[in-house]
Amino acid sequence: MTHTPREQWGTRLGFVFAAVGSAVGLGNMWRFSYLTAENGGAAFLLLYVAIVLVVGLPVLLAELVIGRGSNKSPIAALVHYGGPAWAPLGGIFVGCGFLILAYYSVISGWTLRYALMAASGGFGSDPEALFGEIATGPAAIAWHLGFMGLTTLVVQRGVRGGIERATLVLMPLLFVVVCGIAVYAATLEGSGAGYAYYLSPDFRGIWSWKVFSDAASQAFFSLSLGMGAMLTYASYLTDDHDLPEESLLVALSDFGVAFVAGLAVFPVIFALGLSQAVGESTIGALFITLPSAFNQMGTAGVLVGGVFFVALAVAALTSAISLLEVVVASAIDGLGWTRRRAALVGGGAVAALGIAPALSLGALDWMDKIAGNVLLVAGGLALSIFVGWVMPDPMGEVARGTHGVRWFFLWRWLLRVPVPLVLAVILYATITSLFP
Ligand code: PHE
Repeated sequence: MTHTPREQWGTRLGFVFAAVGSAVGLGNMWRFSYLTAENGGAAFLLLYVAIVLVVGLPVLLAELVIGRGSNKSPIAALVHYGGPAWAPLGGIFVGCGFLILAYYSVISGWTLRYALMAASGGFGSDPEALFGEIATGPAAIAWHLGFMGLTTLVVQRGVRGGIERATLVLMPLLFVVVCGIAVYAATLEGSGAGYAYYLSPDFRGIWSWKVFSDAASQAFFSLSLGMGAMLTYASYLTDDHDLPEESLLVALSDFGVAFVAGLAVFPVIFALGLSQAVGESTIGALFITLPSAFNQMGTAGVLVGGVFFVALAVAALTSAISLLEVVVASAIDGLGWTRRRAALVGGGAVAALGIAPALSLGALDWMDKIAGNVLLVAGGLALSIFVGWVMPDPMGEVARGTHGVRWFFLWRWLLRVPVPLVLAVILYATITSLFP
């Protein structure tokens, strides 16, 4: 077998952008807004922030440390530090990549479809009915397949030429557009109730396992954690990166986008009297409310809407790429395949699996629950134990490229005790509530 040297990110910022590109995606807009709407607004938001800080950040840093230290894709990386007993965990990560990408691509297909509608003049008079039409059926399958084609194409071109280049331009654009919509939303009459729901917490509603489970699952989903995506991206890193600093940057950017997206979505939901519609189809919240708002803004609105959905599709693409990259990198490292072959076979398999969620919203919801609420949280639990107790010298690895040891002891301690405890309890509650 010929041995080509392992790929690397082209620029210093290349990794941060790609990691932010992976983190920022449908999770920040679609998933964040519907879960926040479903779980009580501001109190959920605070719980989410707490979990990101106490659990998400340490696990993110853990993935980066394993990835950079080993320079390997998940299965090989876990075996490298923990021995063959850890290979199955890497296998679950790869499976999780398949599962998430399959429905993620269907939703991304909706996004493309909405972008096209904007280009052809508007979102029609009944956004709820429109969502019903777009969400499932043959057209949903076709758009999903198109999106998977695009994802496969970029991944096949490799780390530097494909992934890095696509993210550098499009992420900033998305952020500008979302901020613009948030400013517009502030001018709507009746938006106050939306801000109240989103920003003034009422803690009575959050003391249920479902709320905790959703907050944890959202933290993992949004930060692309618990399935080796960040680990894989970090495996293309060199030693001179300050991982704690970069993980903080990634987490902050990811939260920033989600928070502003909420500032755009909630005022609109309340100003347009859509809270009822959202209650009935929470999964569709974003895709029903925003087109309504764009419609009301007239031609300019449709234009902004078009740009929004294009930018969202791009954010989704940069996340989808990282999901497929886990599968592809594992096939390259583990089976000795070429990148091209791995991308085509992996992408093709995901495309086939995505037909189920493209035919049924129920299947989509179920896949999201299994992957997001169970597998990612379980993955995070395993990773924290791995770095906390199994990996030989995580402190040495995390310190490389930094300016000396600061709060790393706290990090290690969090991974040893509090993080596994919190995740184990949440996971137990999730599983017993999903399979009573
Ligand atoms: N973080 C991405 C989002 O918020 C989704 C994702 C999950 C990507 C897991 C990679 C791994 O849209």
